[in-house]
Amino acid sequence: MPEENITSVLTEKRTFSPLDSFIKQANLKKEEYERLLLKANTNFEGFWSDLALENLHWFKKWDKVLEWNEPFSKWFTGGKVNVSYNCLDRHLEKKSNKTAIIWIGENEEKRSVTYSELYEEVCKFSNVLVQLGIKEKDRIVIYMPMVIEAVVAMLACTRIGAVHSVVFGGFSTEALADRINDSKARMVITADGSYRRGQIVPLKLNVDEALKKCAAVEKVIVTQRSKNNIEMKSGRDYWYHEVISKASGDFKAKELDSEQPLFTLYTSGTTGKPKGILHTTAGYILWTTLTTKWVFDIKDSDVYWCTADIGWITGHSYVVYGPLSCGATVVIYEGAPNYPDWGRFWKTIQENKITIFYTAPTAIRAFMKAGLEWVKKYNLSSLRLLGTVGEPINPAAWMWYQKNIGNEKCPVVDTWWQTETGGILITPIPGITSTKPGSATFPLPGIFADVVDQNGKNIHGDQGGYLVVKKPWPSMIRTIYGDDERYKETYWKRIKGAYFTGDGAKKDKDGYFWLLGRVDDVIKVSGHLLSTMEVESSLVNHTAVAEAAVVGYPHEIKGEALCAFVVLKQDSVNKDHHLLSEELKKHVAKEIGPVAKPDQIKFTESLPKTRSGKIMRRLLRDIASGKQTVGDTTTLEDAGVLEKLRTQEEE
Ligand code: PRX
Repeated sequence: MPEENITSVLTEKRTFSPLDSFIKQANLKKEEYERLLLKANTNFEGFWSDLALENLHWFKKWDKVLEWNEPFSKWFTGGKVNVSYNCLDRHLEKKSNKTAIIWIGENEEKRSVTYSELYEEVCKFSNVLVQLGIKEKDRIVIYMPMVIEAVVAMLACTRIGAVHSVVFGGFSTEALADRINDSKARMVITADGSYRRGQIVPLKLNVDEALKKCAAVEKVIVTQRSKNNIEMKSGRDYWYHEVISKASGDFKAKELDSEQPLFTLYTSGTTGKPKGILHTTAGYILWTTLTTKWVFDIKDSDVYWCTADIGWITGHSYVVYGPLSCGATVVIYEGAPNYPDWGRFWKTIQENKITIFYTAPTAIRAFMKAGLEWVKKYNLSSLRLLGTVGEPINPAAWMWYQKNIGNEKCPVVDTWWQTETGGILITPIPGITSTKPGSATFPLPGIFADVVDQNGKNIHGDQGGYLVVKKPWPSMIRTIYGDDERYKETYWKRIKGAYFTGDGAKKDKDGYFWLLGRVDDVIKVSGHLLSTMEVESSLVNHTAVAEAAVVGYPHEIKGEALCAFVVLKQDSVNKDHHLLSEELKKHVAKEIGPVAKPDQIKFTESLPKTRSGKIMRRLLRDIASGKQTVGDTTTLEDAGVLEKLRTQEEE
């Protein structure tokens, strides 16, 4: 666990109470919050039952709130529900002409759809899917840019009971093929291309390459976005606009079991293979709906913008499902935050009068570095609430955000959660919680998160420990797709009787939670979770590499960056190191995606290992971050290795 974090959080003394003007209008008020906390403590199932009745549309009420057979949970069994019904149909009576989505393309294009238009498009696309042979529980991979059709595709899957697996458009062909194969998808939905910093990302071409390795895929639907030249394979590939133009606009939402699989989403684990996190229907939509109401204080008048890509869980829960289930107006933006310049986000806020803005600390740090002049050019007075997610936000970035973007009048919600948790678990509630910069504050009502030692004992005071959740919650991961054993092993073995998050945390004397980063070999680069093992396996796949160890080190903007220590094969030792370094970076970008590209590559004759052969990553982390090694090095097999590594120039 990073020690410097532990000391830095101890020095944070500032607190910010919610303003009266915010408190008065807040969705969740203090009395209600306290009642909820009490109810969750005294009548756990009753607590969830009330919320499920009040917040969702049910075709049929459940028989049982919770079946808990640790570590497997089933929520609201016997109930019948549909996610797209909750996101669309139930709003039609009162909000059919309300804007559901405002889409902004990278090249300044703009298009909006109302709830009734979105409903009709989703119905049509549901018919298309069924006509192309998709059945309940079939898997569909969505590999798309941030366009309205991506949201339509997701909602149509939920309408017919198919299981989507969205793959981030920035992932490479290989990563895409792995995910298609692991999910055993029958269909891929994609676009010809998408725009990123003025360039066209050739999504369809990547799909064509990937499908050479994916025998189970029968059909591909292609949205036209960038009009780049692509090949359409007859009998396999269909244009979205052609198939949808012939489809009927009526499709009755399927009445699905509460526990029907909703989607899988891949995330990095400590071993090389990504984990397909499985979420199911009722529990997921309940918690994303509730948290959108409580944490973002969503109102009918809001224009809400979460900058996450739909390829990540934040895009699922807080671009698509939570806000649409609440009937909100959602902004989606296709391109890069700094295209054509660093004013892009602020211009978007001004032009669309955005009221709620949710982004990642890595973006905030990049904007800080770009300079305040970009912010000052625009009028941000429409904003009333700010949020962050994805990694710890350092107090300096929090303060900058609160002052310069929020003009000291917007509450800042630092929301902690994971792909596995489905929705936000630890966060301030904007009209209630006094915030401390850098702290995600407290678990929400119904969430029994805690900080414990390795024996599962509570830790108080300033000591760091493991962040766990002691009771199930509705939007929790159900399993790792196709691998129950790995699910048990990853989340339920380390601490007896609790869900292990993989994060370190501490609670201060006021009970505030401070997140301290990952405790294993998974790191966050620009908000993207990466397994160092995955990058290592990609490096050793290269013909020149004999062995590789990858570690994270602190990085001013990315939060963490990757440093790879590489041992070359004998016949490559004399190659030009600079060229080889560039080649390896490209190789990793191609195999996994640009985000996994190491910032530094250090060539070495050997890696520091214990006598039993385990790579001492702690030492490599020290070297990568330029720190003096403290602590025990006596188990090192060859102490000379360290010295050589330290004196070596970066390649
Ligand atoms: O380490 C925590 C960090 O992001 C991890 C989850 O990553 P992912 O599954 O990609 O989901 C990201 C979006 C929910 C966590 O285990 N993390 C997320 N939010 C925070 C955070 N760390 C500190 N503070 C946060 N607010």
